Amino acid sequence: MSGVAREPELKMKIDVLALFPEILTPALKTGILKRVQDADKLTVNLHNLRDWATDKHKSVDDYPYGGGAGMILKPEPIFAAVTALNTERTAHVVYLTPQGVPLTQTLAESLSLESHLILLCGRYKGVDERVRHQLVATELSIGDYVLSGGEIAALVLIDAIGRVLPGALGDYESAHVDSFSHDLLDHPHYTRPAEFEGMDVPEVLLSGRHEDIEEWRYAEALKRTAMYRPDLLQKLELSEEDIAILKTAGLVD
Ligand code: ADE
Repeated sequence: MSGVAREPELKMKIDVLALFPEILTPALKTGILKRVQDADKLTVNLHNLRDWATDKHKSVDDYPYGGGAGMILKPEPIFAAVTALNTERTAHVVYLTPQGVPLTQTLAESLSLESHLILLCGRYKGVDERVRHQLVATELSIGDYVLSGGEIAALVLIDAIGRVLPGALGDYESAHVDSFSHDLLDHPHYTRPAEFEGMDVPEVLLSGRHEDIEEWRYAEALKRTAMYRPDLLQKLELSEEDIAILKTAGLVD
């Protein structure tokens, strides 16, 4: 799942265009997202779509042609905003919508190679179709459920991108991201104490035998994936050893 690399000196700019951009503020001031911005690897600018509304009521939505429930985000403020934000004409415009392609690690890593993203957050029934045709490069969904708007989805995307920018993670965490390239869910983790309320840490993890530990971790990751995400397992070519592990665990016939 990994494998794409970004030139370390490259900086990324993300403009978020939303009706409630302030939803993102606290998360952008915290943890890894704060660190990458402080290190000047990432700049995130939050914009309120209403700032580009043209009428005196600052309206950004209108009734759908043809009737029906719900309001539609009008094209004029969105076109004006994207034109104003995309002065260098290098921006890749992402529209956050449940109708989009699913966000995956691969997609987040490939978007992390862009120099400028404009994240357009939907609200209500979505945007006028001409916005999708003319401005949007990628329509993206963070999952098969409907949020009240695209702001939280944009934050999810920024977080997934921010943490893979060069320098965002420490060495251990970077190596850990690489382990996702196995396409399996992660194995279980334990820390001290070795015994807690009658529950013991598996003996192998205390043994110091590194090969055995790796073998155990792999088997646990395989079993966990079979249990929770059989769809991921179906995409892999399982070895005879893999199948033996799953049979012993009663996870395949
Ligand atoms: N807006 C509302 N629901 C969404 C979802 N699941 N993904 C992206 N944007 C959304």
